[in-house]
Amino acid sequence: MNASSPTTIDVTLGERSYPVWIGRGLLGDSTRWRARLRGRHALVVSNTTVAPLYLERVAQGLAGLAWASFQLDDGEAHKSFANVERVLEALAKLGATRDACVIALGGGVVGDLAGFSAACWMRGIDFIQMPTTLLAMVDSSVGGKTGVNLPAGKNLVGAFHQPRAVVADIDTLATLPDREYRAGLAEVVKGAAIGDEPFFAWLEAHADALAARDEAAVIEAIARKVAYKAGVVARDETEQGERALLNLGHTFGHALETAGRYTTLLHGEGVAVGMLLAARLSERLDMSAAADTARLQRLLVRIGLPVAIPPGMDAEQLLALMRLDKKNTAGTLRLILWCGIGKAEIVAGVNENDVLAVLREATA
Ligand code: NAD
Ligand code: GLY
Repeated sequence: MNASSPTTIDVTLGERSYPVWIGRGLLGDSTRWRARLRGRHALVVSNTTVAPLYLERVAQGLAGLAWASFQLDDGEAHKSFANVERVLEALAKLGATRDACVIALGGGVVGDLAGFSAACWMRGIDFIQMPTTLLAMVDSSVGGKTGVNLPAGKNLVGAFHQPRAVVADIDTLATLPDREYRAGLAEVVKGAAIGDEPFFAWLEAHADALAARDEAAVIEAIARKVAYKAGVVARDETEQGERALLNLGHTFGHALETAGRYTTLLHGEGVAVGMLLAARLSERLDMSAAADTARLQRLLVRIGLPVAIPPGMDAEQLLALMRLDKKNTAGTLRLILWCGIGKAEIVAGVNENDVLAVLREATA
């Protein structure tokens, strides 16, 4: 574990601005993140997979404070209201005051739930994100979307609540399974595809290095994706417009995840296939060129991501699931469509026959 000077990206939101630190040895080297704690109480929320690996490093930095830890069971199913209540009870037991801090140590599940718990305790206390998956480093830990699932659907309850800091210690990626790592790369490709053509070209040039987890390439990819997302969040924190573009591929992707009962595809894998379907639909609607779709597909394949709808899924069933998406309005499909590398648009009233044609072609 070599501590090095981290790459820093700032999320600029006035008094609520915060740094995202990216580098090695950052959990154990607590000088920076400890300075972001305002009070004497801290609750570390993690899970049963991550805590045994990394809690000790964080604990060293909490010496002298009143602190405790809470471990969720592993898995999306545990991003629940019942567990928010348990985290709040742990804060009560700790005697957490208004200046207490929740520390989220884990992937997006832990980060979303811990952040939402922090937003609820005494109507909002500080929290620090310590993401340990690539997906959480490049996406979920940045931008302040927190929340939990209901039996009725994913992420139906939540709050915008920005962290005080994000500590992306890439040493934690050493234990992350390859499939989870590649799923995180899908969110990196997504950022470049939506709004950063030079970054897309950089990803094409560094696809092999990224697939091999080359350290310098990984740090640069995280930093560039975070910088892109930080800009979007600074301009549209509560998703009144531009931020919705970050959902490119998600309406297709969520339908694929749901059709696979959340076991066939990881979220990032659903986003990879979903982006490609969105690209094909955009091509059909003359918004983008076939050459761009081909570039996107080549990059996803080189990174080792799936690009096809899993066998056994049915076009009509997928369309029915897409109709349930939160972005839809008044019974019409509202999708993020692609205008080629580096540009996307929100389009309302997309004709279902076009969507169905793309899905049928991909499931044939
Ligand atoms: P996850 O949190 O379930 O983590 C994936 C798996 O990796 C889990 O089994 C976890 O225990 C394990 N893990 C985590 N870190 C590890 C490490 N360093 N070594 C070994 N194993 C490790 O999944 P995720 O992909 O990180 O996040 C998905 C969640 O994020 C979903 O709930 C999704 O809704 C949410 N999300 C939120 C936002 C947002 O803006 N808030 C954005 C995207 C996704
Ligand atoms: N993951 C999409 C967003 O943060 O807005």
